[in-house]
Amino acid sequence: MQDQTAIVTGACGGIGAATTMRLVRLGVNVVALDLNAERLAQLEQDVTEAGGNIAVLAGDVTDEQLGRAAVELAKERFGDLEILVNNAGMGSAMEPIWEIDLADWRRDIEVNLTSYFMMIQAAVPHMVEAGYGRIVNTASAAGMEGHALAGGYAAAKAGVIAMTKVLGKELAKDGVIVNAIAPALIGSGMLDQPWFSDEVKEKLLGRIPMGRVGEPEEAAEMIAFLASPSVSFSTGAVFDLSGGRATY
Ligand SMILES: NC(=O)c1ccc[n+]([C@@H]2O[C@H](COP(=O)([O-])OP(=O)(O)OC[C@H]3O[C@@H](n4cnc5c(N)ncnc54)[C@H](O)[C@@H]3O)[C@@H](O)[C@H]2O)c1
Repeated sequence: MQDQTAIVTGACGGIGAATTMRLVRLGVNVVALDLNAERLAQLEQDVTEAGGNIAVLAGDVTDEQLGRAAVELAKERFGDLEILVNNAGMGSAMEPIWEIDLADWRRDIEVNLTSYFMMIQAAVPHMVEAGYGRIVNTASAAGMEGHALAGGYAAAKAGVIAMTKVLGKELAKDGVIVNAIAPALIGSGMLDQPWFSDEVKEKLLGRIPMGRVGEPEEAAEMIAFLASPSVSFSTGAVFDLSGGRATY
């Protein structure tokens, strides 16, 4: 993977930052996208101090222009683009579906699903032209199982899983491999959000046979593997990260 280039969205969060550092240690150049400009500057410094190459782009992944801007930046700074890690995400208010405000629902779908679609539209033509690419989408156990009170988020993540399966088939003969990860509970910024109450955390933790929260580095390791040429006969698949919780 030395000298390959990756776009990582949500690069400043727990999983995104760990993934960025993991890819950088493998010699990958990273174009890092996130809403948080301050944390992007910190990530840039961390990567540079580690001897890696990074270009940062602050913005909202729901912005239609951002995907194209990221691909242009990758090509301009590093010459090409081999890897896309669609990872930006946010949780919604804990409410039953019939009480979710339409604006909140739309925001959930935009951030957690439509942004992945837009990044894919920007990146795939370059990968097809090059005859090589790896796309990793961060889905969620919520998209596999449907978590009560997280309707918009779960529906979006289920959409990510379906989109991964469709795209995997569509690109199966183009050298572009597309997979998703489905984490259950990873110790990241997401768990600090107010809607993730102690009660919800306890309940989810109680369902994990390993009895612990996953580390962002454990997610990063799986993403780095799926972003690598080592993955050659798996596409359109969903890889579990649930500490033994998922039995499907
Ligand atoms: N932590 C978990 O337990 C868990 C479980 C399942 C799935 N996931 C998924 O993992 C991915 C990474 O999340 P995390 O756990 O690292 O959480 P996190 O909150 O630490 O990171 C999410 C990152 O995405 C960024 N982001 C959010 N909305 C954005 C937007 N509109 N535009 C640009 N950037 C935006 C945030 O600034 C943040 O840096 C998400 O897609 C999340 O849904 C997490």
